[in-house]
Amino acid sequence: MAKLTLKDLDLQNRRVLVRVDFNVPLEAGRVTDNTRIRAALPTIQYLIDRGARVILMSHLGRPKGKVKEELRLDPVAKELEGLLGRPVHKVNDCIGPEVKAAAAALQPGEVLLLENLRFHPEEEKNDPEFARKLASLADLYVNDAFGAAHRAHASTEGVAHYLPAAAGFLLQKEIETLGKALADPERPFVAIIGGAKVSDKISVIRNLLTKVDTLIIGGGMANTFLRARGYSMGKSLVEEDQVPLARELMAQAERQGVKMLLPRDLVVAQEFKADAPHQVVAANAVPDGWMALDIGPETAREYANALNGARTVVWNGPMGVFEMEPFAHGTEAVARAVAAVDGMTIVGGGDSVAAVEKVGVAGKIGHISTGGGASLEFLEGKALPGVVALTEKQAEE
Ligand code: 3PG
Repeated sequence: MAKLTLKDLDLQNRRVLVRVDFNVPLEAGRVTDNTRIRAALPTIQYLIDRGARVILMSHLGRPKGKVKEELRLDPVAKELEGLLGRPVHKVNDCIGPEVKAAAAALQPGEVLLLENLRFHPEEEKNDPEFARKLASLADLYVNDAFGAAHRAHASTEGVAHYLPAAAGFLLQKEIETLGKALADPERPFVAIIGGAKVSDKISVIRNLLTKVDTLIIGGGMANTFLRARGYSMGKSLVEEDQVPLARELMAQAERQGVKMLLPRDLVVAQEFKADAPHQVVAANAVPDGWMALDIGPETAREYANALNGARTVVWNGPMGVFEMEPFAHGTEAVARAVAAVDGMTIVGGGDSVAAVEKVGVAGKIGHISTGGGASLEFLEGKALPGVVALTEKQAEE
């Protein structure tokens, strides 16, 4: 990595301000999925072991610059305490005299968690003065919040201008893994892109078409491609205004010699409801008044076959309406097929990650990204502001 990383830093006794992504789901004041907290533990533990004074900061939800009691980070502090097996100090703000005093009082190896950064509107505005106040708490800055690295906020971007700024282990792993897949993949390289809308994934598809050998399309967005082939899609979700673009992307695939796979059969239903009557039909035979809600079994088999022998696989987005049981089978079949691949497999995006967990194959995936939006922007080929802002290695040497 061209940027400073944790191992480049001299940490003993230093105050280290660490941006983590503790944007985790809460229910009744408890963390219901601690994946993101666990993902940050290697960095936190490393800092503790090296005698650093650790100041953690994160956003939680979207309070839009106001204090929202239900979005305080206290449940996160408790969860982290349990995982670390040591006390985590918590303050009720992220700047100001109380916070300064708590940061100053920290002893080597102690951990302090600041309050939700987004209680201050300056955070999302990337206000330089706010960033400077955050920076004033510490000697060094570490960004381990890959999930928020696509945001140019004060805690992810601004603060890096005031302190030596290094990547934490999680951020480094995400960037190196996704970066290798895009820049230097072992081939064959197969990408599976799903989700409801083509319009959300245009840039990803465009970028991946320049890199992959096979591109597999599923989910609601496949309907727009099928329409571009001239099929009538009943009352399926079709983005009519994106049909010309879908046609153009298919032509691009052909020009570049990329095999683009679209569903051959579909599970269609009369309504967007879990208990709606449903049936499997050929992709070119969706009856009037029916809507496609999942890929069909033949398609699932074809997609699994296409993954056979792949050396690099990137998967983002579900194949159907995964949250409704009758329409979850396509996504689950793809999850199993990805897990069975021998090469490097990378899964990102909430539903795809939930699918590999649901079918019990998460342990067989090479890399499960902690970033939804961030991993998508990375796959689009965009530079992530949280990474760009980190200190260049040479600059320090
Ligand atoms: C996420 O959950 O994807 C990250 O924490 C970023 O959150 P945001 O979309 O509210 O910026």
